Amino acid sequence: MPLLCPERVSRAIFVEHATPSRTALRVALRRAAHQLYDSPVIFPDPVAVPILGQTYAEELRRTPRRTDRPFSIALRAFLVARSRYAEDNLSRAVTAGVRQYVLLGAGLDTFAYRNPYPGLRVFEVDHPATQQWKRDLLQRSGIRIPERLTCVPVDFESQSLSAQLQTSGFNIHGPAFFAWLGVVPYLTLAAFRTTLGFIAMQPAGSGVTLDYGQPRGALPFLERLAHDSLASRVQLAGEPFQLFFTPAEIAGEWASFHSIEDLGSAEINARYFRGRADQLAVRGMAGRLLCAWR
Ligand SMILES: C[S@@+](CC[C@H](N)C(=O)[O-])C[C@H]1O[C@@H](n2cnc3c(N)ncnc32)[C@H](O)[C@@H]1O
Repeated sequence: MPLLCPERVSRAIFVEHATPSRTALRVALRRAAHQLYDSPVIFPDPVAVPILGQTYAEELRRTPRRTDRPFSIALRAFLVARSRYAEDNLSRAVTAGVRQYVLLGAGLDTFAYRNPYPGLRVFEVDHPATQQWKRDLLQRSGIRIPERLTCVPVDFESQSLSAQLQTSGFNIHGPAFFAWLGVVPYLTLAAFRTTLGFIAMQPAGSGVTLDYGQPRGALPFLERLAHDSLASRVQLAGEPFQLFFTPAEIAGEWASFHSIEDLGSAEINARYFRGRADQLAVRGMAGRLLCAWR
């Protein structure tokens, strides 16, 4: 492979992130589909459909809803469960006095536009191109950008989250709650550890919720096929998977944290999908939800 001169390297990095995240759109479409097709809704989000507006109305209509596509329904269940889980844990954090919520890789997350906590500041961290695309969508849909929201442009691979947050008014002396949803698999191990290292330095009372995926080799045969299908779709979207953990591997990353909760599909279903008449539920063992506190 030819070596690139530094100028070309930085240009290549710029070009790569000059387009908004396609995976963020796929997740937002499924959150919106949940509002329209599932009953009861486990993650009520009155902004999920409006944020997509006319721009993505046709894609939303085509978003899989058929119950004969079990992996697709299970993926939607996982995506809405992780948003619900993050906001359930945020609620605990706010009750305990946290006044800062940081969405790492915010994508089209809508919490900031329906924030029910009067004193809570929200920081949305993402690539600038994704943030600009989100602003355009919000504007087109007439959704007001609240004053308590700050957008912080950061690439976890090449920029300091700490420096970017602090220049944006984040208070490193006050506790904060972090949501890191749908991002870990797209990172290098180095970027994951640097970001987690920053969260680990936050004051007592801080916390983080994230989801992670188990490596292909740890999955049973049918789930490997589902994994391969998803992996090739995100690769085509220009956002290839890079990082997976088994529960035993990720357990080694939490030395500075306590009260670590790591949920598999049985626990997620018991918590959020029990007693439903429809088939909305998480399946298999690929995706897991984790929460840890400082
Ligand atoms: C699958 S989307 C999830 C979005 C959102 N958290 C949600 O649950 O709807 C992944 C998000 O992570 C962001 N992301 C991925 N790698 C990143 C990086 N290195 N630096 C900053 N953001 C990144 C993408 O831009 C995208 O918004």
